[in-house]
Amino acid sequence: MIAIGSDHAGFELKQSVIAHLKENGIEYKDFGCYDMNSVDYPAIAETTCKAIVNGDCERGILICGTGIGISIAANKVQGIRAACCSDYFSAKYTRLHNDANVLCMGGRVVGAGLANELVDVFLHTDYEGGRHARRVAMIHEIEQRQK
Ligand code: RB5
Repeated sequence: MIAIGSDHAGFELKQSVIAHLKENGIEYKDFGCYDMNSVDYPAIAETTCKAIVNGDCERGILICGTGIGISIAANKVQGIRAACCSDYFSAKYTRLHNDANVLCMGGRVVGAGLANELVDVFLHTDYEGGRHARRVAMIHEIEQRQK
């Protein structure tokens, strides 16, 4: 199950990504927004990411205007490793090396075709582990030290 959310600036791209997920038979939960009315991206990031850390969803896709604000907010949720991507290489390697669990994109940055490619590689690339596991564990340790 994929958690997906956006603010108003990411709404159109979210709807396009949802159509792509449907076409590919990928199950998703839509955490809004549900129209073009202005909403605050941190609230959407928090509710979407909570569904990932509580185990309801495996990974997430978040979209705002740039992808940046919503990724900053997402990364405040313990257990979330959100990556803002607008190129194929980053979307692939953030899975391989960072075990990223949320892909963030900018609705004002990437087009629908590229977004679908980023989603596909993000969802279909496994974490490599190995030498990267120590570094991902260190990220977790930073979180623990903030408590
Ligand atoms: C909303 O206008 C815009 O600021 C937001 O979508 C996002 O780009 C913030 O990072």
